[in-house]
Amino acid sequence: MKRAIVIGATSGIGKELAKLLAENNYLVGITGRRTELLNNLKNGKPNAFISKAFDITDTKSTIEHLETLVVELGGLDLLVISSGMGEINKELVVDIEKMTIDLNVVGFTTVCNWAFNFFEKQKYGHLTGITSIAGLRGSGMAPAYSATKSFQIKYMESLRLKAKGTKLPIYVTDIRPGFVDTAMAKGDGLFWVASPHKAALQIYRAIGRKREIAYVTKRWKMVALIFKLLSR
Ligand SMILES: NC(=O)c1ccc[n+]([C@@H]2O[C@H](COP(=O)([O-])OP(=O)(O)OC[C@H]3O[C@@H](n4cnc5c(N)ncnc54)[C@H](OP(=O)(O)O)[C@@H]3O)[C@@H](O)[C@H]2O)c1
Repeated sequence: MKRAIVIGATSGIGKELAKLLAENNYLVGITGRRTELLNNLKNGKPNAFISKAFDITDTKSTIEHLETLVVELGGLDLLVISSGMGEINKELVVDIEKMTIDLNVVGFTTVCNWAFNFFEKQKYGHLTGITSIAGLRGSGMAPAYSATKSFQIKYMESLRLKAKGTKLPIYVTDIRPGFVDTAMAKGDGLFWVASPHKAALQIYRAIGRKREIAYVTKRWKMVALIFKLLSR
């Protein structure tokens, strides 16, 4: 049996991916702040999940919870960070930008670094982050979302380079979704919206293939190319 942790498994993409991993013989550590939702997921398949409720913007408690969770799981092969937030913020309300930075930058970095150090110590492992196509181009509607997703993309690229330097079988996969039908998908004019289940299936396959970067769904790769051409 393999062991995984999904950070942000209470809803959306993380929840679907946690279910899929459990169906595929993983013992899964599920996290998020909403205890009741973690319990609901766990009660559906009690032997497949171990839950821990914590807020990843609290660095000290995040590290303590991850240390405990990995012991309870009996090891770790894969860690997926799905936690994230993004608000449309045309008025540039600073509190919204700060919350987004605290979660998508500080929380994300805390979890990434804990996982990388753990994998380096045990000499193998797979880190996966759910970034976004939004990280490839600035956004006048949601500046902090776009900028923090850009940070995540570059941070994962940096960790991938660091992993290659170790010559150890440590893999870093950057999943870049377009639109997925979750609470996060906001605004008018959404298109090519994937169901969370379809997104989770494509993410699961990308992890299995140890892909460095995967667009979800695949057609978003075309948009990524256009964004790259438009960016200066
Ligand atoms: N949906 C899309 O169209 C889309 C597109 C591109 C990228 N993404 C990315 O996909 C990831 C998952 O989002 P989703 O669409 O599945 O939305 P979601 O259903 O809103 O999931 C967000 C997850 O983040 C967790 N979270 C939020 N604040 C947290 C905190 N302070 N500490 C720990 N966990 C926290 C939530 O759990 P709690 O509230 O229980 O803490 C929840 O499990 C995000 O990183 C998002 O940026 C989504």
